Amino acid sequence: ASVGKFFWRLTYGSALIGLGYLAYGIYEDRHPVDQHPADPSKKTLVILGSGWGSVSLLKKIDTENYNVVVISPRNFFLFTPLLPACTTGTIEHRSIMEPLRNILRHKTAAVTFYEAECTQIDPVNRVLTLRDNSEIKGDIAETSLPFDYLVIGVGAQNTTFGIPGVQENACFLKEIPDAQKIRTRIMDCIETATFKDQTEEERKRLLHMVVVGGGPTGVEFAGELQDFFEEDLRKWVPEISDDFHVSLVEALPNVLPMFSKQLINYTEKTFKDEKINIHTKTMVKKVTEKTIFAEVTKADGTKEMIEMPYGLLVWATGNAPRSVVRDLMTKIPAQAKARRGLEVNDYLVVNGTEGIWALGDCAATKYAPTAQVATQQGQYLARLFNTMAKTQALEEDIAHLEELGHATASIDDKKAIATEIEAKAKTLRRSKRLMPFQYTHQGSLAYIGSDKAIADLTFGDGNNLTSSGQLTYLFWRSAYVSMCFSTRNKLLVIMDWLKVKMFGRDVSRE
Ligand code: FAD
Ligand code: NAI
Repeated sequence: ASVGKFFWRLTYGSALIGLGYLAYGIYEDRHPVDQHPADPSKKTLVILGSGWGSVSLLKKIDTENYNVVVISPRNFFLFTPLLPACTTGTIEHRSIMEPLRNILRHKTAAVTFYEAECTQIDPVNRVLTLRDNSEIKGDIAETSLPFDYLVIGVGAQNTTFGIPGVQENACFLKEIPDAQKIRTRIMDCIETATFKDQTEEERKRLLHMVVVGGGPTGVEFAGELQDFFEEDLRKWVPEISDDFHVSLVEALPNVLPMFSKQLINYTEKTFKDEKINIHTKTMVKKVTEKTIFAEVTKADGTKEMIEMPYGLLVWATGNAPRSVVRDLMTKIPAQAKARRGLEVNDYLVVNGTEGIWALGDCAATKYAPTAQVATQQGQYLARLFNTMAKTQALEEDIAHLEELGHATASIDDKKAIATEIEAKAKTLRRSKRLMPFQYTHQGSLAYIGSDKAIADLTFGDGNNLTSSGQLTYLFWRSAYVSMCFSTRNKLLVIMDWLKVKMFGRDVSRE
């Protein structure tokens, strides 16, 4: 009985600690302490973007050392791993948006934010061109901004490989408006398919949801969409049950090339069980308003062109550099061979420039363009800037002490100053020894639908652990909730999941 009592107390105690932690998180979010004002006399550090890379840099940098200015066309951080869940209403989009103003307001020294797109970077004169692309514009909608240091974290855009018809007819999945558009289109296709006197053929077309690209974006979206159908649509619109189909089209012989063979097989089997059609070795060549044309490589190596009528097309074939990055690449001779993004050295400095760094999806490195890489690069740059500031302060101290040493006539004072200089010089040498950026891969996770996830985890000295299924899904959920930055967003995501379990997803069209 005493063991039972002990466990009760332990559980009760842990719950109290958990609640206390939650309450403190909420209080801290709501009550930021006073900030020191921004100091324009300090070196101006401009950070472009409010995504994974830039925000992780902002979180760790000591803003007292620089005049920090952030520029981004969106005034929030987007938690992209849960974006596929917004396309079906499993998660509401506001639950995965973190207002940038809240993040900045929690810094010790104020940070200036301009909601704008950087359209041009002049690396020689060290000036940026900014444009306000939002709906409401003031008298000034375009201006310039000089910088001393620049960090480029503008991410990437969707690639279409110039395939005809994709840009005009497909939906993409990168930003909040993309997810909203897909959510609306799914319901539009369904309501149109059930319109009076709709022909059988047209109805089948409208209910054919095609995803092109078998990378993690395509797979996660296909899984979410099939869940929506199985758990809600089938119930509320039973007349579409036989005709609603999800197809995943991939040019390579299998989906998810970055995962281990075992997890690829598991995903493909789960999709088959869930009746998601996988078309591998199928490369889309052309898209029209209602049809996809794709080239299939058959087992004997011969090729055949097939036609796939579709209602909704979601295009997820990876990344291409944004126009501001492409433009900068043309201005720097050392970037002549760059294709995937800005080439950087081991310290993330953009090759061919000084005082300009790039991180995340806009930088071409040996790592995959993931949130994990961008976050670690942001943390690395924060350490770099904090160290640079410390180094500069030490150099100024040493110069000042040297002047004092020259000015004094006393031998004892000279000796004391020399000892102090030596101590500071030692610290300076240590802090100047900055290591190059090193990425630690913690593994890959993906949701594949029907309450199942896959995980390729790395731990210790490069040891690997693969896991899949419903327990992995619980792990996936807890990992992503814990990664949401604020207590508010963690709670919103949990509440969305509970809401869907209790009431199902909302099938109204916005
Ligand atoms: P982003 O996060 O894309 O941020 C770029 C920022 O730059 C944005 O704020 C944008 O508004 C801003 N910007 C754009 N143009 C300009 C401009 N001209 N001037 C100024 N600012 C500009 N990775 C994982 O590791 N795990 C996952 O589970 C995962 N899931 C994903 C799911 C989806 C649907 C998608 C699309 C991606 C996912 N990723 C995941 C990849 C991950 O989101 C990216 O690798 C990551 O966002 C890259 O971070 P970033 O900071 O480079 O760019
Ligand atoms: P991706 O580059 O990973 O995959 C795109 C896929 O599209 C490739 O497999 C490619 O073969 C295929 N493809 C290209 N052209 C095609 C065509 N014409 N027809 C048919 N198939 C074609 O792109 P994705 O999924 O958008 O991911 C981008 C980045 O974001 C990756 O680095 C990925 O790891 C990361 N990400 C990670 C997630 C996770 O860890 N859970 C989730 C989503 C994205």
